[in-house]
Amino acid sequence: MPAAARIRSLLALSLCALGPAGALGGGSLADPIPSARSADEAARVAAVTTPATTFTAPEPFEARPAGAGTAMNGRYAAPLANLPPARGMDVVLGEALFEKLWVPAPTTTRASDGLGPLFNARSCAGCHPGDGRGAPFDGTTRVNGMVLKLGRPDLAGLPGHPVAPDPLLGRQLQDRAMPGVPNEGAVGLDWTEEVVPLSGGETASLRRPVARVTPALAPETATSLRLPPQLGGVGLLEAIPATDILALADPEDADGDGVSGRAAWVHSPSSGTTRLGRFGWKAEAASLADMAASAFSTDLGLSTPLYPDPAGDCTAAQAACQAAPTGEDAGLRDGREVSGEALGLVTAYLAALGQPTRERLDDPQVLTGKAAFHAAGCTACHRPKFVTARDGADPARSFQLIWPYTDLLLHDMGPGLADALPGADATGAEWRTPALWGIGRASAVLGRPASYLHDGRARSLLEAVLWHGGEAQGARDRVAAMAPETRAALIRFLESL
Ligand code: HEC
Ligand code: HEC
Repeated sequence: MPAAARIRSLLALSLCALGPAGALGGGSLADPIPSARSADEAARVAAVTTPATTFTAPEPFEARPAGAGTAMNGRYAAPLANLPPARGMDVVLGEALFEKLWVPAPTTTRASDGLGPLFNARSCAGCHPGDGRGAPFDGTTRVNGMVLKLGRPDLAGLPGHPVAPDPLLGRQLQDRAMPGVPNEGAVGLDWTEEVVPLSGGETASLRRPVARVTPALAPETATSLRLPPQLGGVGLLEAIPATDILALADPEDADGDGVSGRAAWVHSPSSGTTRLGRFGWKAEAASLADMAASAFSTDLGLSTPLYPDPAGDCTAAQAACQAAPTGEDAGLRDGREVSGEALGLVTAYLAALGQPTRERLDDPQVLTGKAAFHAAGCTACHRPKFVTARDGADPARSFQLIWPYTDLLLHDMGPGLADALPGADATGAEWRTPALWGIGRASAVLGRPASYLHDGRARSLLEAVLWHGGEAQGARDRVAAMAPETRAALIRFLESL
């Protein structure tokens, strides 16, 4: 069947049975099979993933961040090169759904409707252009791709959602709505700026955003601005054995290095259990299926079997929103605006996003910067290497040496980066270490200067590092104090990732 016809059938006319077990077919959704490594294999993995100690030459396989799936064509997030051909069609269909522009119901097409009532964008790709990080706020228009999370920490939450939603506006401010439904307002940003001194007489200017919402929010409502992260390699992050991540956690800082690291435990709607959180700036989603379903619901206002309410983030207080027509269709076996099979395809697409080959890694300045990265203590959180779980059903992601530069744990990053809104299992000050792979290509993918950190406040990689506080204060101070040419080399190394 041609792709377009298959998408139509998936979204509106499919009669194929999708029982609870098969409802999310397409991607691999379970926690990766516990590594079950033999002692011998565990020792080999430990040896190969230990951070480097010499920096005179690149390490073996360092040029291939996504293992055998690394794309050689230099594109940002091309599909994993080792994907079995049989998976290719699901990935193509998933990409089409990721890029699809949804419209409000009712329409005659049925296949593409159900957007809203409240929404922030009309497609996934609208906020994740080229699978790269979202556009920074340009100071004049809407918050491009960025979203404002809302909550009431002073009210009791629900199981799995410790923070209560805003009683009027829900969990996120949607600045767009379908005709006849009022949107929730607009967000503008004000900036405060301060100059910080660095060694060698250099300085940096750090700006911090303050969200200005019109009409004004209730004073008790806490907010958190979030920039869309880049998506390359997310499937490989999902394939890291949970045991290997938990082995890095040191919540009581038993080793006394000032860096603790804590696992986030979150409710996972796809498995119905509590699982290790991996995705989102506060590790609020355990799997790509959970993350995609939550994006469908909150960002686009589309229901899935995992978040079945067609009104998405509308609250009981929003009558026009609750009364709006939906795109749900009794002809669908699971009845949702986005079927379980379509969600599975989007998940399969995300799971297959790779990373291109690294370049310039034998450049002497890059090697100097890499040594500085290790010496400054960055690897305490930005763990260079992992080996993914063995998974015979998913050969492209199985047992690969990958180079993501994250531990996927939560760290207290200090008051400078904190906001007042806790996450599912993170305080306002805790953030999940973001992967650094691909970060050097962020501006090229976006087509204009990219911005960094959870709210896009950093206009350069150096600014991002200088905002580090809390557990990362020592590493940040070492960067501020290092010789200017070493600092320049460190940035050059980050740009080479
Ligand atoms: C309105 C903008 C917007 C839209 C539309 C959107 N996203 Fe996102 N996406 C974000 C933001 C912001 C985050 C970070 C969320 C957080 O930290 O809580 C994010 C995070 C993610 C992540 C986690 C990445 C990581 O490394 O942690 C994935 C995966 C993702 N989005 C996939 C999707 C998919 C699939 C869709 C469409 C169904 C989608 N997004 C639609 C803004 C958007
Ligand atoms: C204690 C853990 C920790 C240490 C140590 C640490 N980082 Fe980070 N890093 C984080 C976390 C968490 C964030 C996200 C913070 C946020 O967005 O508010 C981050 C964000 C970043 C970013 C921005 C990423 C993005 O996607 O926007 C860069 C670049 C970065 N770190 C580089 C470094 C460098 C270089 C060092 C060493 C000098 C370092 N980090 C040390 C935890 C750490």
